Formats: sequence, structure tokens, C-alpha cells
Amino acid sequence: MSNQGQSLKHLNTFALPVYATRVIGINSVSTLITAWHEARMADQSVLLLGEGSNVLFVEDFSGTLLLNRIKGISCTEDSGAWYLHVGAGENWHQLVCYTLQHCIRGLENLALIPGCVGAAPIQNIGAYGVELQNVCQYVDLLDLNNGVSQRLMVEDCQFGYRDSIFKHCYKEGFAIIAVGIKLTKAWIPTLSHGDLTQLDPLTVTAEEIFNQVCATRRRKLPDPAVTGNAGSFFKNPIVSRKKAMEILKKYPRVPYYIQPDHCIKLAAGWLIDSCALKGHRIGGAAVHQQQALVLININNAVSQDILDLARYVRRQVVAKFAIYLEPEVRFIAANGEINSVECVG
Ligand code: FAD
Ligand code: EPU
Repeated sequence: MSNQGQSLKHLNTFALPVYATRVIGINSVSTLITAWHEARMADQSVLLLGEGSNVLFVEDFSGTLLLNRIKGISCTEDSGAWYLHVGAGENWHQLVCYTLQHCIRGLENLALIPGCVGAAPIQNIGAYGVELQNVCQYVDLLDLNNGVSQRLMVEDCQFGYRDSIFKHCYKEGFAIIAVGIKLTKAWIPTLSHGDLTQLDPLTVTAEEIFNQVCATRRRKLPDPAVTGNAGSFFKNPIVSRKKAMEILKKYPRVPYYIQPDHCIKLAAGWLIDSCALKGHRIGGAAVHQQQALVLININNAVSQDILDLARYVRRQVVAKFAIYLEPEVRFIAANGEINSVECVG
């Protein structure tokens, strides 16, 4: 520990050289409640963190950082489904591997997503045609102020694209402590996205999907253990049909996805790419060459480099398409989360 506190370089996947006053590993609900109360008594800000794969520390965190490592996987079944009750501190990808090792299918499209199970409901993680909401049964939430936990069933979680009730109503003073997952035994492969469309739905196995997803991800996305990043920096923008038509008329190649409410989701990576920003560099930060939606720490970046690059990328996209990208990554300042859109506006 230095004068600045404890280094978070290995606790944020951007690998930024930031510090927190104190870091405490949490492996049970009781230690979580105790640590929370001690920090609050000392009038310190508190931040709950999983594996730091969806955060941008814009400066040092002046408070106590609680690392959620509450473990445990239990599994029951009935004739129709498998039911997993998973501690929030379990690693998501290890959970996917665990299910496949036990011949339980349904999580294979979500392979290799970094982070803890407890963070998965917060932005309703998704990839290759599957989102957490498709497999989630419930989320157990702890009110840290009174130690009372409640179970929110999937229909109460207000899941949407990279969104849930946990981003809005349960931010301060709440912790997700476990997630319930239901995987039906009548497995139907999801092959609607990318390279998966080439697989034969009649013969494909969950392991083949898992392998294909891992291969695609390794090709496109930088490994945070090698190159700092937080996955997609921005969300794919959802625009009105009218706005989408205007853009498609001018740029017929923009990838788009029609939403259930008839709005249109556009591929932010394509928009950034078509501004010729791949490889664009500011300080130690750069736009990833294989996936323009990913900003990377290419060479000893500091927080300001990532912020400056994000702002630059956003302005270029506004200038060309009049679309305002919103960060997917959560921005953390000295006392907690701050408004990311204002930061890059
Ligand atoms: P953290 O970054 O530690 O935390 C994220 C936020 O949740 C913070 O605000 C934190 O305070 C809060 N939080 C964390 N745990 C808890 C808890 N138990 N209770 C209450 N609040 C909590 N995401 C996708 O959806 N799809 C992808 O395909 C995808 N690919 C990625 C690829 C790469 C290479 C990387 C680096 C990231 C990717 N992501 C993806 C983003 C990231 O993996 C997910 O958002 C993941 O769920 C974050 O988990 P985490 O434990 O690292 O959360
Ligand atoms: N594209 C380009 N150039 C680029 C990047 C993308 O032309 O530089 C095009 C691709 O060719 C493709 C389209 O844009 O036609 C979409 O790209 P991709 O399939 O790589 O997916 P994405 O929309 O960029 C989303 C998620 C990812 C998730 C993948 C796979 C968001 C913000 N991102 O990315 O999630 O893994 O789909 O389903 O929704 C994350 O959230 O951190 C993340 C990595």
C-alpha cells in the first residue's frame, strides 16, 4: 500500500493506475454488512466491485472498495429444468463451464464474458442472441443499511438492452448477493448471430456453440489480461425508425436490428469504424483495430486518455451521423458513480 492507498491496477480491466483508500475482499453476507457499516461509520464512500470489467475509474476512489467474492453454486432439477442458485462472487465464465461440464445447456452463447455473476443482472449481460434475462429466474438483493434481503423475480427486474432495475432503483446501499438461473431441459440452440448462423441447428451441440463463441470473441475482442479494456465502451444506439431510415438511405451498409417496439438498434462499432477511427490514439489510449467499439489501454494510459478518446470518438460520430453514443461502461469518481454521458459530452 502506498500513500495514495491500495492500487486498483489489477482490479480494473482497463488496468488504469488508480487507487482506493481501502480494499476489502468480501466472502460472506455477514462480512459484507460489517464492512459496509464500518465504512459508513467512518463516513467513507463505499463501492461494490466484481471484477472491474465494466468500470472506468476517472480518478482515485476516495473510500472503501468492497470486492464481492461471495461464492457457491447449488443445483436442483425437476422434469423440465435445471435450477442454479449462484453466489454473486462466482466468475461468470466459470459458471458457463460448470454448466456444460454437468451437461446443462443454455449458457453457451454467454461464454467468455468477463466479470462476476452478481454484476450480470445489472446490465443484463448479453451476447450472440442471448441475454441474462432469458435464463434468469431471480436476483437476491441485500439492503446494506438494515441487512434485509429480498428476492426479485425476473419479471420484476425490468430487464432491457444493457439495462435493469438495478441501474436505477437499487444503486446506493444495495448489493446483489446471489442470482437464480433456470435452464430448461428442452434445449433450443440460439444460432441467430454472426458465425453461429453457419452451424446446423439439427446437429449442433452446446459445446460447439461454446467453442465458436470463444473463437469469435478471441478474434475480435482484446484479452484484458494482455491489453486493458472494458469491452464495448458505448452501447449500440437505439433510434427511431425515421432516424434509422435517414441513415440507411445515406449509408445502406450500416448493420441494424429491429427492436420489438419497432425502434432500430444500429451497430455503434460500424458507425465508429466508418469515421475511420480504428487505431486512433490519444495518449496511451486507442480505438481497437479489430473492434472499433472497444477502447483499449495500449500503452500506460491514464484515466484522462480514455476520457479524451471517448469524447473524441463520440464527437466524430455526432458530426457524421448526428447520433449521440452513450457509454455502456460505468464511470467511477472519487466518491462513487458519476454521469457518464455528461463526462463525455
Ligand atoms: P464490475 O465492473 O466490477 O461492476 C460493474 C458495476 O456493477 C459497477 O457499477 C459496480 O459498482 C456494480 N456491481 C458489481 N457487482 C455488484 C453487486 N454484487 N451488487 C451491486 N452492484 C454491483 N458485457 C456484456 O453484456 N456482453 C459482452 O459480450 C461483454 N463482453 C466483454 C468483453 C470484455 C473483454 C470486457 C472487458 C467486458 C465485456 N462486457 C460484456 C462487460 C462486462 O463483462 C460485464 O458488464 C460484466 O457483467 C461486469 O462484471 P464485473 O464483475 O466485472 O462488474
Ligand atoms: N462492425 C464494424 N466495425 C467494427 C465493429 C463492428 O463494421 O469495428 C460491425 C460488424 O461487422 C457487425 C456489427 O458491426 O456487422 C456488430 O458488431 P459485433 O457483432 O462485433 O457486435 P457489437 O454490436 O459491436 C455487441 C455487444 C457485445 C457482444 C456482441 C456479440 C453491445 C454494446 N456490445 O457488440 O458486448 O459481445 O454484440 O453479441 O451491445 C460488451 O457489452 O462489452 C460487449 C462486448
